[in-house]
Amino acid sequence: MVNLKNVTKRFGAKTVVNDLSLTIARGELFGLLGPNGAGKTTTINIIVGGLLPDAGSITLQGSGSPQDPNIKRLIGIVPQSLAVYESLTAYENLNFFGRLYGLQGSDLTSSIQRVFELVNLTDRTKDRVKTYSGGMKRRLNIAIALLHRPSLLILDEPTVGVDPQSRNAIFDTLRNLRAEGCTTLLTSHYLEEAQQLCDTVAILDEGKLVAQGTVEELIARHGGQSILTVETSKGKSRIETHEPVQEIVRIHAEEPIISLKMESPSLEKAFLNITGKHLRD
Ligand SMILES: Nc1ncnc2c1ncn2[C@@H]1O[C@H](COP(=O)(O)OP(=O)(O)O)[C@@H](O)[C@H]1O
Ligand SMILES: [Mg+2]
Repeated sequence: MVNLKNVTKRFGAKTVVNDLSLTIARGELFGLLGPNGAGKTTTINIIVGGLLPDAGSITLQGSGSPQDPNIKRLIGIVPQSLAVYESLTAYENLNFFGRLYGLQGSDLTSSIQRVFELVNLTDRTKDRVKTYSGGMKRRLNIAIALLHRPSLLILDEPTVGVDPQSRNAIFDTLRNLRAEGCTTLLTSHYLEEAQQLCDTVAILDEGKLVAQGTVEELIARHGGQSILTVETSKGKSRIETHEPVQEIVRIHAEEPIISLKMESPSLEKAFLNITGKHLRD
């Protein structure tokens, strides 16, 4: 669905995207991850044709160019900064944007109904957007991007500034879209969230791809060992192991366990192991 080959983008003397190659397969929920400033938004802007790379190539849908209007029509974009009209109701927003996409009549009405259901805002359609929480506005923005039934949905940091309830609603929406076959690319600097949601991820650091693969592969390859903190009558001990369950059973047979904490391998750990850096907000 998306293919980037050796893409480089510079702003002045600074290389912001550095020889990036990645592939997003049809139907995948793909996470482009990395700390703030890693080059995620720049990469998205290149994919949607808003920026031209200094080197490398991008193809969409096999051989399409991001500059081709027929290809652009297949994409839905949810930018990080909201683009909704606060003084209008949610319904009026969708009605307005639907007309911009060329929808009208019963097509428009049924599309509006469909996207409200997808983002779970059906009971708030008649409310002005200024009464919405940040998370609800984000969901409305996702609804707008879905009106024309894109086959590639792109979301830039969809959960920043979003309350946990809306975040879960957004995750549900993205999972439902995946079930419908929609390809989704999202960016995030929250690796823990991406680990829950994405099938495949690419991790960027300072414009460079540091890892790409399924979440399971990356965790198995780079996520390190499980860390057990075990307390028995003999005291507390910290154990690193690839076989935490067997280890717990073994210890418990020797000496009953009083308390236990387990830290599993994670994408966050994988990032730390690959780059030697903690990923912080
Ligand atoms: N238009 C621009 N001009 C100059 N520098 C830019 C521009 N856009 C982004 N940058 C710089 O490029 C780097 C990557 O930015 P960005 O792609 O927004 O990262 P991310 O989305 O991963 O946080 C940052 O250091 C940012 O300051
Ligand atoms: Mg960004």
